Amino acid sequence: MRREVSLQALNTLGCPCVAEQFCTLSRTDEESLRQAVRWLDAQPGGLILGAGSNVVLATARVPAVLHVGLRGIEELTPPPGAPADERLVRAAAGEIWHELVQWTLARRCYGLENLALIPGTVGAAPVQNIGAYGVELADRLAAVEAFDRVSNTTLAMTPADCRFGYRDSIFKQQPGRWLITAVQLRLSARSAPQLDYGNLRQELQASGHAEPSAEQVAQAVCRIRTRKLPDPAVLGNAGSFFKNPVVAPATAASLRQQWPSLPVFPASTTDGSAAVKLPAGWLIEQCGFKGWRQGDAGVHEAHALVLVNYGQASGQDIVALAGQIIASVQATFGVLLEPEPLIVRDA
Ligand code: EPU
Repeated sequence: MRREVSLQALNTLGCPCVAEQFCTLSRTDEESLRQAVRWLDAQPGGLILGAGSNVVLATARVPAVLHVGLRGIEELTPPPGAPADERLVRAAAGEIWHELVQWTLARRCYGLENLALIPGTVGAAPVQNIGAYGVELADRLAAVEAFDRVSNTTLAMTPADCRFGYRDSIFKQQPGRWLITAVQLRLSARSAPQLDYGNLRQELQASGHAEPSAEQVAQAVCRIRTRKLPDPAVLGNAGSFFKNPVVAPATAASLRQQWPSLPVFPASTTDGSAAVKLPAGWLIEQCGFKGWRQGDAGVHEAHALVLVNYGQASGQDIVALAGQIIASVQATFGVLLEPEPLIVRDA
């Protein structure tokens, strides 16, 4: 255990914050997990942290951090009766997500290519059910291995157990209960590119790949992301700062009477009701915030959904800017934006 550890390099927004106590979890045996959780339970306000890619540290100090340092990627034998081309891959929670994507491609295990270059660790991926370019983690997941702080045991959770939704899961609904230790992915030896989202197909056609390999899809996704989204290593950010709001089709239709160019996308709901998704980036841009800067907190100039830290912004500065954006979008469109990252405030 270390004391007074700076978390500035452990959150991709690069906001200053100090952990009074800091422990790294590097073993997954049941006793080590119990011990780590007992330690965390003894520190009210303690946090579990991976790469800090989906968190805003809006406080100068946190009492304790358990840093998930579990490593290892392996191929498992698929269960009896699985299709011949099924590939099962298990990755420990502390692995870097994009490195896992590259590992799978190098071993001809396909299915994660649309999720290339998403920042963060493997353990954080199920929490917000990461998704990009028409694929969500839930579509590829076989199981999540997680220590349940209520029953004090490790469980292998099925996708149904995880209650996945758009940027949502049981891990987000029950904060503090679960410590994710590993993820198992159901992939395939047969590449089946999903190219229907936005400009992915055009991007591939423009580079002469009408029937692309999984590697070419991953490269195209990386090119699109690099053009639109800032690299957290260069400019602090936590990816999309808001979820795309899901509204009733009638709400979207009445908004489109006033703003005919409002893009509308189909949305799936857990209760089966009809709904559509509005792009939060578009709503924010219409309110004049794209490229807006307030001190060192800003809205990215190439993508209005991404808040950035130009250097010295605190988590509180980022949250204050987010509050202004929420108020402006609400006043203009009557739509409530919901932040995507976990916001850690003063205890
Ligand atoms: N748009 C604007 N102005 C902007 C940004 C976007 O008008 O400044 C419009 C675009 O023109 C487009 C629409 O918004 O019509 C959608 O934009 P984009 O394809 O960039 O996707 P997004 O909905 O803004 C979502 C995810 C991203 C993911 C992309 C691609 C959420 C909250 N975000 O963004 O995820 O990479 O789709 O699938 O669902 C993340 O979660 O950190 C993230 C980057």
